[in-house]
Amino acid sequence: MAGIDYSQKIPNNVDLAGDKRLQRALEAWQPNYLEWWAQMGPSDFNMKDVYLRTAIDVGSDGWAHFGYVKMPDYRWGIFLGHAEAERKIGFGDHFGEPAWQQVPGEYRNWLKRLIVTQADTEPASVEQQRLLGHTAPSLYDLRNLFQVNVEEGRHLWAMVYLLHSYFGKDGREEAEELLHRRSGNADHPRILGTFNEPCEDWLSFFCFTMFTDRDGKFQLLALAESGFDPLARTCRFMLTEEAHHMFVGQTGVGRVIERTLQVMKDNPGKDVRDYGAIPLEMIQRYINFWAASSTDLYGAEISSNSANFFRSGLKGRAYEDKQADHKALEGQYRLENFVDGRVSVEQVPLRNAMNEVLRDEYVRDNQKGIEYWNRICERMGSQFRFRLPHRRFNRKIGCYAAGRFHPESGDVLDEATWNAHVATWLPTDKDRTYVKSLMKPVYEKGKYASWVAAPAKGIDDKAPDFEYVKL
Ligand SMILES: [Fe+2]
Ligand SMILES: [Fe+2]
Repeated sequence: MAGIDYSQKIPNNVDLAGDKRLQRALEAWQPNYLEWWAQMGPSDFNMKDVYLRTAIDVGSDGWAHFGYVKMPDYRWGIFLGHAEAERKIGFGDHFGEPAWQQVPGEYRNWLKRLIVTQADTEPASVEQQRLLGHTAPSLYDLRNLFQVNVEEGRHLWAMVYLLHSYFGKDGREEAEELLHRRSGNADHPRILGTFNEPCEDWLSFFCFTMFTDRDGKFQLLALAESGFDPLARTCRFMLTEEAHHMFVGQTGVGRVIERTLQVMKDNPGKDVRDYGAIPLEMIQRYINFWAASSTDLYGAEISSNSANFFRSGLKGRAYEDKQADHKALEGQYRLENFVDGRVSVEQVPLRNAMNEVLRDEYVRDNQKGIEYWNRICERMGSQFRFRLPHRRFNRKIGCYAAGRFHPESGDVLDEATWNAHVATWLPTDKDRTYVKSLMKPVYEKGKYASWVAAPAKGIDDKAPDFEYVKL
């Protein structure tokens, strides 16, 4: 059992004490990280006790300890999943060769780029969510927000460990840069688009943790296959933490839906806005926005980078062991390409379509979340059904960025049709103003804002009126 050493300044299960140079470098980065947290982490709650879970082991069961912590005292540490004896590379040109314990020289830059891109999303989301504590709909939700925030901070630690330990001076420089880019900053933005979008209300936060953190899940699944073993092990434990973030999103949106349906049931024929709930169509528009934006995160449909990452054994497919051909040299991918204003089917060499292969898994997983929400509709006796927007809808990256597409059918639309309907498909200024008008904090134990239902059960089996955050 790879227990975690908490007697160290930086908790870890990588025997940091045995590598003084690395330990010193990370201990030098630590105050800069804390300064970033103080500046860009959750605003104004750093002196409060929050009921948080902390990793105490990397095994799948019983890995977490719950207790009150002030966020700046959270034990951010470095935790790698268990080593697999004699692990072999599972895909690409090096299939079957021993996994690398050191950075393979010829792939150094690609690997660094993969790690930096993943790393950058972690502090970005904390920055995006930094003001949400002021409008939390309950103490339960406030605690969940902070749990997500501290774990994204830990994910940054996970990536910075790799940069410091395997990439020397330029790794350390990249680690510094990660603390200096800022979400949404015009001059020095975060690397990926979605991570620069404002996330100013809780419906957006729930959609973000549902759709954007789920992108994180699939990126981590693909990196957990990496032939570079330290990256694979790092990502495996991050996935354990990530599951809670998606739980927050999926059940969060579900509770908003449930609340609206309850108001509709109790007040037939009335506008749910009169009761401070969010109309179902408006929720659908938020889903459309965040699902589409997060679908962009996989990059272009045809990509030589993705082919290189796969070929070199750096980034695989999610669930690679379920694939038959681990070299992916034979297969073709059937791509609905958008060229000259028309969708036409093309066969693409599989390796060039790895972004699309990963996006397929993502879309499938999103669909399950939609079905979960529709079961709430069914249970509450509503005919309304939520839809995952078509993957071509409202894209900013890849071939579909050049066109307009219907959110359900994916059909090509002309500009006039798009303009005539866009207000029913994407959040309008009016929607945003309304949703923002609901964002008033509810800090009383066991109470919830007018627009969201109570959760089915508490965190760590706590009673409904448990004081998740001591304000
Ligand atoms: Fe993360
Ligand atoms: Fe996350």
